[in-house]
Amino acid sequence: MTERPRFLNLKQASAIRDLVATPVYVYDEPLLRRQANAALAFPHAFGLTVRYAMKASPNAALLRFFDGLGLHIDASSGYEVHRAVRAGIAPWKISLSGQEMPADFAGLVESGMEFNACSLRQLDDYGKGFPETSVGLRINPGIGSGGTKKTNVGGPSASFGIWHEYAEQAREIVAKHRLRIVRIHTHIGSGGDPEVWQRVAAMSLNQVEAFEHAEVLNLGGGFKVGRMSGDESTDLQRIGEPVRALFLDLYQRTGRKIHLEIEPGTYMVANACSLLTTVQDIVDTGEEGYRFLKLDTGMTELLRPSLYASQHPIVVLPRREIDGATANYVVVGHCCESGDLMTPSREAWDTLAPRRLAEARVGDLALIEGVGAYCSAMSAKNYNSFPEAPEVLLREDGQLQVIRRRQTLEQMVANETPPPETDEIPSSNC
Ligand code: LLP
Repeated sequence: MTERPRFLNLKQASAIRDLVATPVYVYDEPLLRRQANAALAFPHAFGLTVRYAMKASPNAALLRFFDGLGLHIDASSGYEVHRAVRAGIAPWKISLSGQEMPADFAGLVESGMEFNACSLRQLDDYGKGFPETSVGLRINPGIGSGGTKKTNVGGPSASFGIWHEYAEQAREIVAKHRLRIVRIHTHIGSGGDPEVWQRVAAMSLNQVEAFEHAEVLNLGGGFKVGRMSGDESTDLQRIGEPVRALFLDLYQRTGRKIHLEIEPGTYMVANACSLLTTVQDIVDTGEEGYRFLKLDTGMTELLRPSLYASQHPIVVLPRREIDGATANYVVVGHCCESGDLMTPSREAWDTLAPRRLAEARVGDLALIEGVGAYCSAMSAKNYNSFPEAPEVLLREDGQLQVIRRRQTLEQMVANETPPPETDEIPSSNC
């Protein structure tokens, strides 16, 4: 089990509150670098490309940071591709595997973006536009693993990728458009079982063998990351070595040297970011009830507990000596929504699970940790008209860099068309 990293003390947290107020996401550059280096050290036989799955957290500063370390990008929509290009990423470093093909798909392919067809229809559409070219195939291997059902994207209940039994239909489309399948892609889900990940790697290599032009196997992301202390994290070396052996075995049997791609999102950023918040209020519901800690954040910044009952560490940073005093709190968000709960039980998002935390007072700072992946990127943004929170990068030299400002009310309503003139009340004949 790897020890979960900790960063941000009361002094740094107070400096960040003075700089941009709370709530604010704080990313730690040394931890981002550490994760990137660990991913780049993934065992491989004949070359490795690590793609950062930008859906985890798409801020341009993060994309540039990973680009500088030699990572490429996994995008899941045309918008993500454009966003990465705007951040300065070369299109040839971006690979698109998505549920829909963007309206400007042809232009993106012509710019050099790589594409993995994720359904038979996508493959056919690609072939019509780009006959006699090379393309990748995303395959649903028939099994998946995702920690929760909502994050499992393999197996019969997942719509992602071409069902593994439809290889023949894919071949017909390939033949019709004289395409070459140069890449096989799979992704089984997030936070899944390392054993399933390895099993799928072996099955995917069989698919590579069946497509004679395939040169690359992309095994997606899905490396489990423990957020709470005691949670298991995937050891990349441990799961990667047996897969490397399979690549060598394929080479010995066929002479084919297959390049490996992985595209982690969670692994890269999950534990490298904390959400800094302020305790707004403390209320209780009597002797038989609960004591609630109300934070100035919630599902507007962190949806995962409400969506998946996911567990994130919460640390109160009292401003005074409390001599180790603790109390049980149900931690809730600032939205008018009983589902805006930061401490659900592991089993159910709607069951309150009080946590023992340092005794808090209104005005204390609190950290919610492990929020780098799918938090800033995936939230109930602007619900109750709370503005999008800022993001700050804690640099290696200790400097603070604001990488996203807090949204203003003007920006929130910018795309609303002005209300009609209301001077006259429209008359009705009814
Ligand atoms: N590649 C593909 C094609 C994907 O669809 C994903 C994630 C990844 C890579 C990165 O997977 P990761 O390394 O992060 O497990 N919202 C959920 C996770 C959904 C991930 C969707 N696809 C969560 O909060 O855990």
